[in-house]
Amino acid sequence: MYTLKALITTFILSIAGISFAGEGMWLPLLLKALNEEEMQAMGMKITAEDIYSINRGSLKDAIAHFGGFCTSEVISDQGLLLTNHHCGYRQIQSHSTVENNLLKNGYWAKDQSEELANPGLFAMFIDRIDDVTEKALAGVTDEMDSRERQSTIDKNLEMIKTEYTLGQFQDLKIRPFYHGNQYFAFTTTSYPDVRLVGTPPEAIGKFGADTDNWEWPRHTGDFAIFRIYAGPNNEPAEYSPENKPYNPKHHLPISLDGVEEGDFTMVFGFPGRTNQYLPSIAVEQIVNKLNPAKIAIRDKALKIVDAYMREDEKTRIQYASKFASIANYWKKWIGESQGLEKTNAIAKKKKFEKEFIEKNEGNEKYLNLLPQFEELYKKNQDFAFTRDYFNEVAGRNVELLSIAGIFGRLIDRYENNGEEEYNAYLQRVVAYLSGFYKNYRSDIDKEVFQALVEMYATNVNQKFVPGELTMRANPNGYSSLADKLYDNSSFTSEEKTMAVLNLPAEEAIAKIKEDPVYKLSSSWSSMIDEKVNAEFNANKEQIDELQRTYMKAIMETFPKKRFYPDANSTMRVTYGQVAGYKPKDGVCYTPVTYLDGVIEKYVPGDYEFDVPEELIKLYDAGDFGQYADTNGKVPICFLGSNHTSGGNSGSPAIDAHGNLIGLNFDRVWEGTMSDINYDKSICRNIMVDARYILFIVDKMAGATHLVDEMTLVHPKRPMKK
Ligand code: ARG
Ligand code: ASP
Repeated sequence: MYTLKALITTFILSIAGISFAGEGMWLPLLLKALNEEEMQAMGMKITAEDIYSINRGSLKDAIAHFGGFCTSEVISDQGLLLTNHHCGYRQIQSHSTVENNLLKNGYWAKDQSEELANPGLFAMFIDRIDDVTEKALAGVTDEMDSRERQSTIDKNLEMIKTEYTLGQFQDLKIRPFYHGNQYFAFTTTSYPDVRLVGTPPEAIGKFGADTDNWEWPRHTGDFAIFRIYAGPNNEPAEYSPENKPYNPKHHLPISLDGVEEGDFTMVFGFPGRTNQYLPSIAVEQIVNKLNPAKIAIRDKALKIVDAYMREDEKTRIQYASKFASIANYWKKWIGESQGLEKTNAIAKKKKFEKEFIEKNEGNEKYLNLLPQFEELYKKNQDFAFTRDYFNEVAGRNVELLSIAGIFGRLIDRYENNGEEEYNAYLQRVVAYLSGFYKNYRSDIDKEVFQALVEMYATNVNQKFVPGELTMRANPNGYSSLADKLYDNSSFTSEEKTMAVLNLPAEEAIAKIKEDPVYKLSSSWSSMIDEKVNAEFNANKEQIDELQRTYMKAIMETFPKKRFYPDANSTMRVTYGQVAGYKPKDGVCYTPVTYLDGVIEKYVPGDYEFDVPEELIKLYDAGDFGQYADTNGKVPICFLGSNHTSGGNSGSPAIDAHGNLIGLNFDRVWEGTMSDINYDKSICRNIMVDARYILFIVDKMAGATHLVDEMTLVHPKRPMKK
């Protein structure tokens, strides 16, 4: 019956000539004007006002930015907060030791007294969104150069801020949209006391780990549960044992009826960054130059670390989070490049550009845009490449170099801001370092250093290679250089580092300055700043300026097309349908996976595909409670055509009625290029089915008291008379 309904909807939509949604990440306050009609035609039963309202509780009040990097949603009237396992990974890891390993065993607080505090973590809600374009751009003219323009805007934004009265935990964030053609202001409220309530073991929350990451068919129960705590009057408050569970304006009911192909879905969250409107030359540079370099560097570093992680349990815990985050984008870039090639993204962009040129015949200003892009991107290529290379090597993968970078900033404080600021910054550095060294092995890092520095010296333009790193200076390879630096540095252990940092400021700084790793890092990064970043930034400023004009130009040139703004970590709604896809000729993926698939993938003892014994027992007994589908199976994950990006992890998947049906956590391999070139034929987001989450919490963990807190509904069951 539902399939028939889906067919009819498809038919009506195609007759009406409405695009079959999927593409686009829309601003909640503009849904009424731009999307409501289409959403309802696709099957949505609620209104734009139910999704975003500033006058009454709406769906948006259940959605929180989680720590500023993921999304989360409130699922009970006592502040229970759902997000991904991989979003809470760092917190889960921080509560773990070899003896008490929450990653491995999972964790379920028996009552609120056992819920674990997480300093630094916060949940941020959006109170309201205002279009402030007119005020932000007041007095800005086409004749202004980019500096003048920006300083006028900055002054305007300061003015706008004075119009808002904000509480202690509130903030006003004004962000440019459509590459600076529009501005929106977000009033936010953050809750800084967010505690860990429960997490499944990694064998569920990260099942399939890096092998399955970014892939379909998927069987990961990627969820964890937190709780927001508030002060005596339900107001935001710093952690205190006196705090009480937060009572939200809205929490999402959870549907037990699940999904079928064609069902309407909506994903509500905070996508980080997309680049849908790049010129073809920029995409060419990503595919041919930048992605391959970053992939190769991470490939090398990951292989080294992986070998050590397989050797012993302690190292595996220490490097788990770092490894996962480096592996994540390594794999994403590979998929992205392949997808861009496979969907002929560059050719498509070129075709679009041709049309753009034809339509703008005689319009000098707009006709100049593409040639200018061409020139600037070419001019910038070597700088962009070197910058990426340096950041990956010295800022990301060689840990001692990134620590040296922090010391550079510390010295900077002292020399430019005085001793007081130095001391304040020092405190933060010390706190960071104690976490850092807990998970650091200098022998592993040294090996990474040796390999990556050699890659840098081989692949980067020689004029950007510091003398001591050149091949000429290291004719027999980089191992003795690595030995020399790591054996003589004071920063390879917490003890030695603290001995330096505990000295009076002057002495500490003198010591840091004579450290061989610091010396290398500091001269290398100054050279990069002077010779690379300065040029890069100047070019980038011009490119951004062009991109703004280009965005405006394409919106004017194609007035009938509906444009959505690129993601910028602000709250967005995307909608589509439950849908499978065809990854390649002769292969067709269905959109739902089941517990049977977990058992099919099961490899006893394997670090990626082991399955907890309790889960196998439940499976064998067929003990699924109310969580099985109508076919008697427990659903695990499902696919949709919602346009999501990094940052959308932990976002709720919502049905036609506003109920939670799943938890977004990933995209499919063939479609990871959706950040640059969304293609609805193969771009799919991956969600954990809400029923799998409840099944694990209730049947496997026995945390039934949590399920009792939630609101479970059956939207698809016929109404009782
Ligand atoms: N690919 C997903 C995202 O970008 C999930 C990453 C976490 N999992 C992992 N195996 N690293 O965040
Ligand atoms: N896994 C991503 C995240 O952490 C989501 C994605 O890139 O699709 O936000």
